Amino acid sequence: MDAGPSYGVSPGAGSGRKSNMNILVTGGAGFIGSNFLRMSVPNRPSDSFLNLDKLTYAANPANLAGIESLPNYQFERLDIADGKAVGEAFSRFLPDLVVHFAAESHVDRSIRSPGDFVQANVVGTFQLLEAFRTHSAARPGALFHHVSTDEVYGSVEGDARFVETTRYDPSSPYSASKAAADHLVRAYWRTYGLPVRITNCSNNYGPYQFPEKLIPLMILNALEGKPLPIYGRGLNVRDWLFVEDHCDAIWAVVERGKNGETYNIGGNCERANMEVVNTICEVVAEETGTPVVELKKLITYVEDRPGHDLRYAIDASKIAAECGWVPKHSFKEALLETVRWYRQERAWVDGVRSGEYLRWVETNYGARS
Ligand code: NAD
Ligand code: TYD
Repeated sequence: MDAGPSYGVSPGAGSGRKSNMNILVTGGAGFIGSNFLRMSVPNRPSDSFLNLDKLTYAANPANLAGIESLPNYQFERLDIADGKAVGEAFSRFLPDLVVHFAAESHVDRSIRSPGDFVQANVVGTFQLLEAFRTHSAARPGALFHHVSTDEVYGSVEGDARFVETTRYDPSSPYSASKAAADHLVRAYWRTYGLPVRITNCSNNYGPYQFPEKLIPLMILNALEGKPLPIYGRGLNVRDWLFVEDHCDAIWAVVERGKNGETYNIGGNCERANMEVVNTICEVVAEETGTPVVELKKLITYVEDRPGHDLRYAIDASKIAAECGWVPKHSFKEALLETVRWYRQERAWVDGVRSGEYLRWVETNYGARS
């Protein structure tokens, strides 16, 4: 495995050296991608960013309000599964670095509509790899960074934790489609020598997350006195990571990782869903003055998700040892920051709920496919 090129300091480090890279980000209007762009674009003025996003229900142009007018940022609405459009975007922009976030990302939706996941996550990743192979791979220091999930490993038994060599064993159409994408990325390294790196991250939370995922859904429902629906008995365990820590970890791998390698990213923060929801009730109670007992009464046990993985647990020692990354945020503090954000950003929440931003997209870009 060859050592990768140096890409300069991370966006938060403050003294970024000029590197003049063309950085193509996919899925940058979604939750993690928009956090990544908001952290990176203003801090790397000598790099040019192109955000390719299909603007599905999970995307929101409001996520990018702070950066859309910056001179080093461009946006193009595009389906990554459309090979012709992807090839044209690559041939125009000639990316040095691709950071690939775009995906259908919600397990429950994958159970209802698996085909959308195969199309976006498998075919989309394939088309990006082909375009990268044709237009970017020969550029000095080029890199394709693939953002993936710990869910590819399936449910972990006992006290074990996922390491990078843990056998893939995905349970849902979402995790299976991400696993397939990871295999393609690795195959392009082995077969064509494409400079690629993969990160498999645990569950993220933080500002701008679409309120269908556990933490934002529970925060908003608790704030509004609505039921808090817990699947099964609430004993499923996830490892939680604040989204800004995930974005820092991606930069750490881009800067200090090695081509052809995989790095697990985790928060060292395993919690049963029940515990997460109880903590959300406590934080919301402290913030709003609502008695915590009233909030906990909202907890409702509902039918379990089919194929629901019991436990995810990440061993993130490789990225710590090789790239010097460890999470900076504690769960309680970052959860408090997240609760405050959802309380303050009513316009964002109302826009997502009312579909106002979907209408904005249709007016500006035409109907969604
Ligand atoms: P998200 O659903 O919030 O955003 C996904 C973005 O991708 C949206 O902007 C959407 O419009 C875009 N997109 C979807 N299909 C597309 C297509 N065919 N062409 C172009 N754009 C398309 O997802 P997220 O939570 O921000 O996750 C981003 C990435 O991180 C995904 O690859 C996901 O698998 C991975 N990941 C997420 C988590 C998590 O907890 N959210 C954890 C680990 C890994
Ligand atoms: P989710 O946020 O959908 O992420 P993922 O399925 O990718 O881990 O769910 C996190 C956990 O919370 C998962 O075990 C399912 C559970 N869950 C509930 O109990 N109730 C809910 O309403 C949701 C959305 C999730």
